Amino acid sequence: MKQKGRSDNSRRSSGTPGREQSFSPLSSPWGGRFSEGPSEEIALFTASLPFDCRLAREDILGSIAHCRMLAKTGILGKQESELIIKGLQEIEEEIAAGRFPYDIAFEDIHMNIEKRLIDKVGPAGGKLHTARSRNDQVALDMHMYVKRQIGETDRLIGALQEVILKIARENLDVVMPGYTHLQRAQPVLFSHHLLAYFWMLQRDRERYRDACKRADMMPLGAGALSGTGFPIDREETAGELGFGRLYENSIDAVSDRDFVLEFLSCSALLLMHLSRLSEELVLWSSEEFSFLEMGDAFTTGSSMMPQKKNPDVAELVRAKTGRVYGNLVSLLTVMKGLPLAYNKDMQEDKEPLFDTVDTVKAVLSIYTELLGSIEIKKENIKAVLENDFSTATELADYLASRNVPFREAHHAVGKLIRYCLEKGKPLKELTAGELEAFHPLLAGEEALKRLDYYEAVKVKKCRGGTAPEAVKEQLLAAEQCLEAGNNFIIKK
Ligand code: ARG
Repeated sequence: MKQKGRSDNSRRSSGTPGREQSFSPLSSPWGGRFSEGPSEEIALFTASLPFDCRLAREDILGSIAHCRMLAKTGILGKQESELIIKGLQEIEEEIAAGRFPYDIAFEDIHMNIEKRLIDKVGPAGGKLHTARSRNDQVALDMHMYVKRQIGETDRLIGALQEVILKIARENLDVVMPGYTHLQRAQPVLFSHHLLAYFWMLQRDRERYRDACKRADMMPLGAGALSGTGFPIDREETAGELGFGRLYENSIDAVSDRDFVLEFLSCSALLLMHLSRLSEELVLWSSEEFSFLEMGDAFTTGSSMMPQKKNPDVAELVRAKTGRVYGNLVSLLTVMKGLPLAYNKDMQEDKEPLFDTVDTVKAVLSIYTELLGSIEIKKENIKAVLENDFSTATELADYLASRNVPFREAHHAVGKLIRYCLEKGKPLKELTAGELEAFHPLLAGEEALKRLDYYEAVKVKKCRGGTAPEAVKEQLLAAEQCLEAGNNFIIKK
C-alpha cells in the first residue's frame, strides 16, 4: 500500500532536534528521483538527526577542510569556496547559539547543514558536496568524533589515576587482609591493593591510545564507495584535519566501523575494572567489613530505614557496565552480516557510541570525586588482622626456607590451624611451645615473629611485591607512567 507523503507541513524549530518535529519529504536533497516522499512515520524512522546532531562540529570542520582542498585543487573557484566557508562558519555559530533551524525532513545532520548552507549562500552552497558522498562524510565525522572522545577519556583516566596515587601515597602504613575467593589469604598493604587499579587503568589508557591509531585514518575521498574522478588531494585534507593516515581502499573506508567498535570495547574493559572497584567499595563500606566510608555526597539514605547509608553511586557504576557491554554487542551484531560497502544499518553505530561516551565520561569524572571522598578506617582494618590466620603461609614459607619440603611444611601448619580453630585461638596468641609441637623447626623466636602480619608484608620485597619498600618503588614507577602519559596529545 502506498503511503501519501505530506509535503505541506514544513514547520521548523531550533534547539535540540527531536522526533516530534515535522518534515517536508519532497524537498530532501535526494528528492529528484521520487514522485512521492515517505510518510511522516517512515521519515522519522529513517532519520538520524535526533542523535547525529552531535556530529555538527566535526561535520563543519570536515566540510571546511574539504572545501579548502576543492579550492586548492581548482575544483571550486576561490570566491565560491570563500562563500561556502563563511556560510559554514555562520552555521557553526548558529548551532552553538541554539539558533539553528533543524528540520527532520532533512534526515540527518549532514543534509541539514547543507540545506542551511544553500539557504544562506545560494547555489554555490550546492557545490560543497562535489567529490564527496554522505558515506565518506559520515565516516569522516565519526573518525573525528572518536578521536576527540579518546582524547577526553584519556585525560579523565589520568585524573582518576592521580587520585589513586594520592591515596596510595598517604596510606602506606595501612596493612589489610588480601583476599582470594573472598577468603582472607595474606596480608597486603592497602596501597598495594589500590595500586592494582592504577595499573588496570594504565592498560585502559594504553588501549584507548592504541585504538586512536585506527581512528586517526581519514576516509574522505572514498566517495560513495569507489573514490572520485575529480582531481582531489586527500593528503591535503588529511593534513588540514590532523589525520596521520589515509584509508588505502575506498570500499574499506566507507564500510569500516572497527574504530567505533574498538572504542566500545576499550570502554567495556574500563567499565569492567571500575565495576570491580565498585564491588569492593560496596563490600568494604558495609557494616560487616567497615574498612571505609564514602562521602555523604556519594551515598543516599533510605526512605524507610533511617540508619541506612547506601552506596548508590558505586552500585550504579557497577550497573552501567551492563549498558556499555550492551552497546558493544549491539554494534558488533549490526555489523556482522553486512555486505560491503555502506548500508543504512550502519547509522545504528551512533547511539551505542554516544551512550558509551556519555557513560564513560560521567563515570570517570564522578569516580575521581568519589575516591577523593573516602575515609579509610585504619583501626577496623587492623582489628581484622589481629584475629585471623592470614599469616599461616608465612609460617609454611619459614619452614620451607629451613629446607623442609613445602608440602610437609604446608601440612604441619594446616594441623596447627586446625588446633587454633578447635581452641578458638588466633595465630597471634600461640606460644613458642605450642608452635614447636607441630614441627621441631618451629621452635624459637624467629618462627613466632613470622606470625606478625607486618612482618609478613615486610618480607615480600620482590619487584611488584607488597613490602613497603617494593610498594614505594611501584609508586615511583606509577608516577613516572602518569607523567609520561599526561604528555599525550591528540592532534585536533
Ligand atoms: N545518516 C547516515 C548515517 O548515519 C549518513 C549516511 C547516509 N548515506 C546513505 N547512503 N544513505 O549512516
